[in-house]
Order: sequence, then C-alpha cells, then structure tokens
Amino acid sequence: MPAPELRPRLTVRFSRPSGGHYPVFVGSGILRHLPRILRRFAPAHRYFLITDSTVARLHGRAVHSALRKSGLRADFLMVAAGERSKTRESKARLEDRMLALGGGRDSAVIAIGGGMVGDLAGFTAATYLRGIPFVAVPTTLLAMVDAALGGKTAVDHPRGKNLIGAFHHPKAVLADVQALRTLSEREYRSGLAEVVKTAVVGDAALFRRLERSTATILSRHPEALAEVITACCRLKARVVAADEREAGLRVILNFGHTLGHALEHLSRYRLAHGEAVAIGMVLEARAAEAAGIMKRGEPGRIEALLTSLGIPLTPPKRLSAARILAAARVDKKSRHGTLLYAVPRRVGRMAGMAGRFTRTLPAGALAAVLKQSTE
Ligand SMILES: NC(=O)c1ccc[n+]([C@@H]2O[C@H](COP(=O)([O-])OP(=O)(O)OC[C@H]3O[C@@H](n4cnc5c(N)ncnc54)[C@H](O)[C@@H]3O)[C@@H](O)[C@H]2O)c1
Repeated sequence: MPAPELRPRLTVRFSRPSGGHYPVFVGSGILRHLPRILRRFAPAHRYFLITDSTVARLHGRAVHSALRKSGLRADFLMVAAGERSKTRESKARLEDRMLALGGGRDSAVIAIGGGMVGDLAGFTAATYLRGIPFVAVPTTLLAMVDAALGGKTAVDHPRGKNLIGAFHHPKAVLADVQALRTLSEREYRSGLAEVVKTAVVGDAALFRRLERSTATILSRHPEALAEVITACCRLKARVVAADEREAGLRVILNFGHTLGHALEHLSRYRLAHGEAVAIGMVLEARAAEAAGIMKRGEPGRIEALLTSLGIPLTPPKRLSAARILAAARVDKKSRHGTLLYAVPRRVGRMAGMAGRFTRTLPAGALAAVLKQSTE
C-alpha cells in the first residue's frame, strides 16, 4: 500500500536573493518520510548528511541507513557536538571531505541536529560550489521553532557569535517531535523559553494555550508539541517573510535578547541561551512596564508561565546593573552605543512606533529593575 500523502503544516515564502518558498513538515514519527521529501524537494545525485556526535548516536546513523536502504546515495559527515564546532575550521573540514568524496553541483546537504548543526551545515551548503541545496532536519526544540527557519546560516568567530555567514534557505524543513524525546531536560526547557518568547511577540492564543497546558507540554506530548511548534513556525515565517534582512519587523524576535545576550556572555555561557533569554524577557518586560509601555500585570504573567515551565529566572550573582548594561552595549543590538529594545505592549502584541520596532528604555527604569533582580 502506498504511504499516505504527507502534508506540510506551513509554507515559508521568501523573496531574496530570488523568490521562493519551502514546506515545513511537523509531526510525530515523520522522519521516516525523509527519503520521499528529499526526492521531491531536493532531488540530488548524492547527499551529504551532516550531524554532530550526539545526534549521530541517537538519530543520525539510523537516518543514514534508512536513506541508503531507500536507494539514495548518502555520505555521513560528523562534527563534535557543541557550539565549539560552529567554526570556519569545521566548515573547511566538511568542505575538504565533500570535495574528496567527489561531491558536485548535483549534490545536496541534509542537516540533522540542533541549531549548531543547522547553521554550520546550512552555511557549508551556501558556499559549496557557490551554493547547493540543503534540507533541515532540526532535532532540538530551539532549532524547530527558531533556527531552522528564516534562512540565516553562520559560523562563529573568536570575536563573536555568527559573525561569518550567509542567507541560504533550506528546500524543506522536517521537524519530527519524536526526536525531542532524547533531548535533555535543560535543553528542552531552554527551547521552551523561545516558545514563550514567540507567543509574547505575536500569538496571544498560543500564550494562553501554554498557560493552560504546562503539564502536557512538559510531558512532551507529541500532538501538543506539534501544534505548539507549528504555531511558532507560522509566526516566524510571517515575520521573516515581511522582513528578510532584519531591517524592520524581524527585530521583534529579539525580545528578551538585548539583556539576554549580555547575561549569556557574562555568565561565560553557563546560562543556556534560552535561560538567559527568559531572564532577559522578564527584565525587559518589567522595565517596559515601569516606563508605561507595557500593560500593567503582563510581565507577571510572563514570569509565571516561565516559572511553571521550570525555567530558572535568577541572573548570576555578583553581576551589577552597570556591567549587564555595558555588556549589552557591545552587542549587535546597540546603535552608536544606544541600547535598543524590542518590547511588547502586552502579551501577543509588540510596541511599534512609526514603523520602528525597537526603542530605548529609560535608563532609570532599567537600572531599577536590574538592581532589584541582581540583589
Ligand atoms: N540561524 C538562526 O536563525 C538561529 C536562530 C537561533 C539560534 N541559532 C543557533 O542555534 C544554536 C543553538 O541551537 P541548539 O540549542 O539547538 O544547540 P545545539 O545544536 O548545540 O544542540 C544542543 C545540544 O543538544 C544535542 N542534541 C541535539 N538534538 C538532540 C536530540 N534530539 N536529543 C539529544 N540531544 C540532542 C546536541 O548534540 C547539543 O549537544 C546556536 O549556535 C545559535 O547561534 C541560529
């Protein structure tokens, strides 16, 4: 009996460098459809399956043998797990292997892993022989709701994260929630922080759904997760379609990130990205509330939801408000030394002003909020 038709949950549209679109498949147990998806959306003579050492063990090897069994020619390329592999050196090693294996313009890349693998493999595909297709198979919650969509690919540089990269859109995204079963509790909750961010930024119904169903979400219920991930992808797709080069609207996705990045950096990455963003969201929302931008009581709702999802909200001790603000100023989100924030007016709606979506926050409000939380 032929396998039933697999329908994408949504389609992402983009216009640069030339127009196009790609399907996003989200579901439980859908990884087995990968060969069909490859044949349809990224037909190639051979595939380079790129993953990291952890995902290789848990999922990658099985996917590799399934591809081969289905008659596709696929080579397995692996980097060590962890952000430290997201470098130009790793990219060069992958390219050397792909060239040595004889990969031509009729090859394609499959990126199976979290955001690190997606960024590294996507960027490798972007420049290999001036660009070959790639398919994203995100395996962390963060990658499913954020990193795999939007076309940003990059590697890190000793001077900062994601400094060298390119826009290169995948031909298809396949997010199988079953892959999340093996994710550590900490990585999972860190991804949930980005889910909450997405809801605050533009989906009040998703926020209410999360408030109502924390236990279901924490138990990683496949159907509930597929719905939540789809909602996040829809919002990101909408925002990215409206603003591909982060000139305007896309900055709303940076809610919580101005202070979050600073905290992540100052904690020497002991705070996971999502944990830092969660603290950043609470601080930025509280400062926006104090400045009369955000509706009273809304920061409390955000804080309560994050807490009920088990996301720790305490900034590292011994960090003064001045140090956090100084670190934030070094980040990409400051312009000429002035800190700009994307903040909500209320849950589900960002504060925009004359077509601009970032604004300054009164130094007094920020300092007071920071002082309170770091004391
Ligand atoms: N391109 C974008 O738009 C974008 C957006 C957000 C983040 N990012 C990037 O994404 C990266 C962070 O993503 P991440 O949190 O997924 O990190 P990651 O890819 O490093 O994954 C985190 C850890 O989880 C492991 N892992 C992955 N899938 C697993 C699974 N199913 N089961 C068990 N373990 C698994 C990995 O091996 C790794 O150790 C950063 O490099 C960040 O810059 C990119």
